[in-house]
Amino acid sequence: MAPKYRFPHGASLFYFTMLASAVPNVTVIPLTSSCVSFPGYDNSTGIATPLKVVADSTGRGIDGISFVPKYATAVGGGSWGFITIPLDASANETAVPMRCGDGSLQAQLNTGINGLLWQTLVAAGTPAESVFGFGLPNLPDPNYELEPYIHDIDGVRQPGVFIGAVNVTTWGFNYQNSSETGEYYFLRLLGPNSHNLATGKQLNEGEFTGYIKVDG
Ligand SMILES: *[C@@H]1O[C@H](CO)[C@@H](O)[C@H](O)[C@H]1NC(C)=O
Ligand SMILES: *[C@@H]1O[C@H](CO)[C@@H](O)[C@H](O)[C@H]1NC(C)=O
Ligand SMILES: *[C@@H]1O[C@H](CO)[C@@H](O)[C@H](O)[C@H]1NC(C)=O
Ligand SMILES: *[C@@H]1O[C@H](CO)[C@@H](O)[C@H](O)[C@H]1NC(C)=O
Ligand SMILES: *[C@@H]1O[C@H](CO)[C@@H](O)[C@H](O)[C@H]1NC(C)=O
Repeated sequence: MAPKYRFPHGASLFYFTMLASAVPNVTVIPLTSSCVSFPGYDNSTGIATPLKVVADSTGRGIDGISFVPKYATAVGGGSWGFITIPLDASANETAVPMRCGDGSLQAQLNTGINGLLWQTLVAAGTPAESVFGFGLPNLPDPNYELEPYIHDIDGVRQPGVFIGAVNVTTWGFNYQNSSETGEYYFLRLLGPNSHNLATGKQLNEGEFTGYIKVDG
């Protein structure tokens, strides 16, 4: 299966210096890697649902916006895709329920012939492209399992649970406009070795940072 998406990797003179100063001094603290750590956890089922999962601290107009899937196959769903922040009007119709089940953040996704299924969300791809999505195929490691974290600023726990991996909860938001799936931001985890491979910079051209926040 040939990926239909291209990631913006082009060499660029654009120099992004705001990374350090745009975000406050957040200490990222791991929570128990289990659904117990999510709001609304039901001990009798082992599931935390429903979860409101939104973009946070982007400094853009998209804070508080819910994530929606963009499927890699055409109309009717598919077996893999990205979890994105949409910019197109039609996206409101495609928001999907999210929960924590089987120990991980999951979304109820249209798998095509198999119908709606709860799919585990991951950050997968090469080190520079660990993209927030599901069922991502044919991609080399790392394939990060997503974990829940607390954000602490100067000793004060911030509201919500933050999603990341390897003690990193900062994601890069990348603009994409495809004739098939519309306008959206896809996210990549800014983990180790996530710098742009062409430029050596931490961020891609036009990329900005933010968090994935879970509210009950
Ligand atoms: C950031 O917070 C950590 C932990 O609270 C503290 O040790 C560190 O000095 C702080 N750094 C700055 C630049 O304020
Ligand atoms: C959670 O459920 C288990 C059984 O699945 C039970 O042993 C345990 O006491 C429960 N904990 C709480 C806090 O209700
Ligand atoms: C999408 O939904 C949000 C919240 O319900 C609303 O504020 C916004 O206007 C809607 N956008 C469109 C294009 O309908
Ligand atoms: C994450 O941080 C915790 C301490 O808060 C540490 O025990 C753990 O080894 C760290 N994990 C990674 C992958 O760095
Ligand atoms: C997005 O791409 C479509 C064609 O695929 C184009 O018509 C539209 O103007 C583009 N939108 C923006 C904001 O660039």
